[in-house]
Amino acid sequence: MEPVLRIDDLCVGFHVRDRVVNIINHVSLHIGENEVLGLIGETGCGKSVTGSAVLRLLPDNAVVAGQIDYRGKALLPMSEHEFNRLRGAKIVSVPQSPSTSLNPMMTVGMQVEECLTRRPDYSKKAQQVPVRERVQQIFERLRLNERGKIFRKYPCELSGGMCQRVLISMGAITNADLIVVDEPTKAVDWILRAGVVDVLRKMKEDYRCAMMMITHDIGVARALSNRIAVMYAGEIVETGTAGQVLDHPQHPYTADLISALPENGFHVTEGFMPSFEEMPAACRYQDRCAHCVEACRSGKPEMHETEPGHFVYCHRCRGE
Ligand SMILES: Nc1ncnc2c1ncn2[C@@H]1O[C@H](COP(=O)(O)OP(=O)(O)OP(=O)(O)O)[C@@H](O)[C@H]1O
Ligand SMILES: [Mg+2]
Repeated sequence: MEPVLRIDDLCVGFHVRDRVVNIINHVSLHIGENEVLGLIGETGCGKSVTGSAVLRLLPDNAVVAGQIDYRGKALLPMSEHEFNRLRGAKIVSVPQSPSTSLNPMMTVGMQVEECLTRRPDYSKKAQQVPVRERVQQIFERLRLNERGKIFRKYPCELSGGMCQRVLISMGAITNADLIVVDEPTKAVDWILRAGVVDVLRKMKEDYRCAMMMITHDIGVARALSNRIAVMYAGEIVETGTAGQVLDHPQHPYTADLISALPENGFHVTEGFMPSFEEMPAACRYQDRCAHCVEACRSGKPEMHETEPGHFVYCHRCRGE
């Protein structure tokens, strides 16, 4: 069956000063019907840039190549007018930064309400529950308590975590088909984190939508994702089911990421991700990898399917 989203060979670079710095390097991913794909990886690896490419929200200095298809339709060549009919209706984003994503001049309740009422296909009569009541219900579920009061608050009157939940409410209110959620638990504490996971799970169940879940939080990725893609320095290094990737990681980077979790003893790998301006031509993890061999420094790895549905981008999988 055709996936809801298919990304093929995506490359994204940015014009910086007098050159183009390549960030996303030949990324291919797909998300099936009612599937959550968790996109994980350390800060600055290119998760948000990938999400923004799908939503065509990259800044003007971006250079994009490759193919992004939504239900078989190529998104990149679409006119802005055509794409705007999908964005906000069928393809919805829950962005990473609440402070820059909410309108400071408008109450948060109205902003969530407008996500629905401004859609070209909105019909008041078709609503089984009045829109305002739906907003209130979603707020309640997200523990944005004091029902009516939160609706009438302005973003500056709410904490970062509350604004984050307002953004999630915007995704929840539309009957979206594909939702790109960027760091949904970034500004929330551990109790609210459970609430956010619950709401996102409910969103998936109620709307049967597909989701790209961008997160640092491996616990959230595990709780919500059917499949996981691990990104390192702009490349996908491992994909598979959540169980395959998180319980039986095959790429040394994924294994290191999991070892660094508090529950696994905080074994943090030394070194930093290379700068995008000086990326090694061969394996990008070579300098930090405990299993690095000569082949890792001389040539690019290939994607290997180590078991059905489990893909790993590493020379070791060829037995080197
Ligand atoms: N407009 C831009 N111009 C130049 N470089 C950019 C631009 N936007 C993003 N980048 C660079 O792209 C890289 C990836 O950024 P991105 O925001 O996708 O990371 P991320 O994986 O989402 O990180 P985080 O987990 O911290 O949100 C970073 O090095 C960033 O500096
Ligand atoms: Mg990000």
